[in-house]
Amino acid sequence: MALLEILIYPDPRLRKKAPAVETVDRKISTLVDDMAQTMYAAPGIGLAATQVNVQQRVVIIDLSEERNQLQVFINPLISDAEGSIETEEGCLSLPGIVAPITRHEHIRVCALDREGKPFETAVTGLLAICLQHEVDHLDGKVFTDHLSRLKRDRIRKRLVREAKEGPPAPTRENSLVI
Ligand code: NI
Repeated sequence: MALLEILIYPDPRLRKKAPAVETVDRKISTLVDDMAQTMYAAPGIGLAATQVNVQQRVVIIDLSEERNQLQVFINPLISDAEGSIETEEGCLSLPGIVAPITRHEHIRVCALDREGKPFETAVTGLLAICLQHEVDHLDGKVFTDHLSRLKRDRIRKRLVREAKEGPPAPTRENSLVI
């Protein structure tokens, strides 16, 4: 396994739209392992391949306290989105930034698991929020895209300044870093 470098916004590579994984092979399996190691080390509760500069539709999430229940979504497709829920979101690619974002509370997702087997499930609450956040990454979006232009610009400038000046502030502990 290897620790991967996480791209920091406004890195233009975070704006690339990832194509679907064609074959779930050993390369994808290694990517999942490396992404998991990177996410746990960060630490975060979710990570999209886009964030480690791999243009493939691969998402991992672990919401467990013990950090031992990795969920893998390859080519995730969200449907039947319903309800709305607002949460303070953070992101490994926007260190130190937290903002309230409104997302659907209930979704259906179909995806491939790490063996390439298709599955479909209804998800709600925190997992639904994380999946929407991560699928945004695969589409070249970050969570601040959901904010007003003014707030977005302010956050972008702050991250650019912090990148020059030194290590960014840690994200508040009680927020979701996805
Ligand atoms: Ni994120």
